[in-house]
Amino acid sequence: MDIKVRYCSKTKAGNTKRIAEAIANGVGCSAVSILDEDTLQEKTDVLFLGGAPYANIMAPELREYAQNIDPTLVSKVVLFTTSNWSRRTIYALKKILKEKGIFVCDEFFYAHMLSIEAKLEEAKAFGQKMIEKEQ
Ligand SMILES: Cc1cc2nc3c(=O)[nH]c(=O)nc-3n(C[C@H](O)[C@H](O)[C@H](O)COP(=O)(O)O)c2cc1C
Repeated sequence: MDIKVRYCSKTKAGNTKRIAEAIANGVGCSAVSILDEDTLQEKTDVLFLGGAPYANIMAPELREYAQNIDPTLVSKVVLFTTSNWSRRTIYALKKILKEKGIFVCDEFFYAHMLSIEAKLEEAKAFGQKMIEKEQ
């Protein structure tokens, strides 16, 4: 199974990056920043995709990345986010991807920006659980 973890993380704390790496650890792949990749190039069975809100909106780079995903390459997307309170990034990403005809799981992973350390094991287990569903 082709599994990929992609994230957009902008603050020095790297909250979303840390959660992405925990998920990647759970599913046995590496987490790649979308800031280091123009577009997703390879066929992907499950794409874990995450970001955070800044002044209520996701980073424009993440929006663009999601808009540019080739729907014929990706079978399924699992979303994750970190924030102070908002789950908005999840809903906004889901809308973009669904409009492209990409299947997005209803279940997503959320970690509050001040609870990242405490959520790492849970994020890892979440990744494993979402993959087990596929096997
Ligand atoms: C400039 C700025 C604006 C933010 N705006 C929001 C916001 O509107 N809603 C929210 O819930 N969190 C907000 N946050 C909190 C971030 O979403 C949170 O710190 C997130 O974990 C950052 O992820 P990152 O470290 O991966 O960049 C903001 C943080 C910053 C630095």
